[in-house]
Amino acid sequence: MSVESVVGDAAAARASTLNRVVKFHAPEIVFGPGATPEAAHAVLRLGGVRPLLVTDPGIAAAGWVDVVAAELADCGLEPIIWDGLTPNPKDHEVAAGFEVYRDRECDVVVGLGGGSVMDAAKAIGTLAGNGGEILDFEGVDQASRPIPPLVMMPTTAGTGADVSQFCIITDSQRGIKMTILGRSLVPDITVIDPKLLVTMPDWLSAATGLDALTHGVEAVVSLAHNPLTDHHALRAVRAVVDTLERTLDDPNDMAARTVMAQAALDAGLAFTNAILGAAHAMSHQVGGMLDLPHGQINGVLLPHVIRYNAEYDPHPYLPIARSLGLAEPSMPASEAAVLVADRIAQLAASVGVPTGLAEMGVRVDDIDRLAKQSLEDACMATNPRPSTVSEIADVFRAAL
Ligand SMILES: [Fe+2]
Repeated sequence: MSVESVVGDAAAARASTLNRVVKFHAPEIVFGPGATPEAAHAVLRLGGVRPLLVTDPGIAAAGWVDVVAAELADCGLEPIIWDGLTPNPKDHEVAAGFEVYRDRECDVVVGLGGGSVMDAAKAIGTLAGNGGEILDFEGVDQASRPIPPLVMMPTTAGTGADVSQFCIITDSQRGIKMTILGRSLVPDITVIDPKLLVTMPDWLSAATGLDALTHGVEAVVSLAHNPLTDHHALRAVRAVVDTLERTLDDPNDMAARTVMAQAALDAGLAFTNAILGAAHAMSHQVGGMLDLPHGQINGVLLPHVIRYNAEYDPHPYLPIARSLGLAEPSMPASEAAVLVADRIAQLAASVGVPTGLAEMGVRVDDIDRLAKQSLEDACMATNPRPSTVSEIADVFRAAL
């Protein structure tokens, strides 16, 4: 089945969303194996002289920081390297990075890493343009002033942070991940080189791939989806389901890595415009509490969220089922949605994700608080099923 006919199905199934004006934002995208030297030219085009190269110790150990720093210097730039980050970036780490940006008089922010690094780069840029503390900017469009140019270089295939208007920072006092959302956070240029993906450990390939899958699925069914986002979202879902396991079988399979890099890009373009849903709203709370890999949590939650949403209305999942070859034309949407959930659970298990949240450290006693916080997350607003705290608590219990 072609992407066009699947998108047509999605449009037909939810025609009520088509009678409105939509917009689609995206950065400049440079894509392909061997693309990394383009980052230096990107900084030059943006008027930079002293870029802050935001990264983390793992990327440095893999050798990529030396490569990129040398490429920046070869173009006459004066990169300032800052790698004081842990996974799931914290508010105080962002403050420390901003001090370096300010004290060293940087003018562009380059994020070289996965979602944590790129979110930190956006947060540092937000402080550089707006002052204050990063906690001041929780919510939608709270940063009113322009921020420095952002260049992103993703080293994982999943986050979508290199094209998105999202920035997720852990509030270390409250122990939650807060969502900062706004057009100013869409990077100026993303340089996507699938060669950077080969140094990911298997667990990270799996987790980030499942994150991309969750972005695609949630973008398809989002209340804010539209024909411009459906195309990217459905293509991403199919690519991850077809390809993720290949990157674990052979980490150096560049064809598979390139497909996954494009899947992450497609999913990112989809979700930054269509926004997300309950799986992310819930995942942010678990990740804030336990500092676990975001994509792993999504991999556990997504099948349960699909079943929950489909009880209310299974039709949004029909185009996904058809694009994955899971549903014959006459199959009821309720059956098709369950097949999508089952297929995703099967994929998550095969790439080594835990089978439940309890295995990851979530306790029954945590559920009420997690459910309450999930309802307050910005991603819940576009979930296709309106929800109560007790309903989301039930989904957490099912996923335990
Ligand atoms: Fe995500």
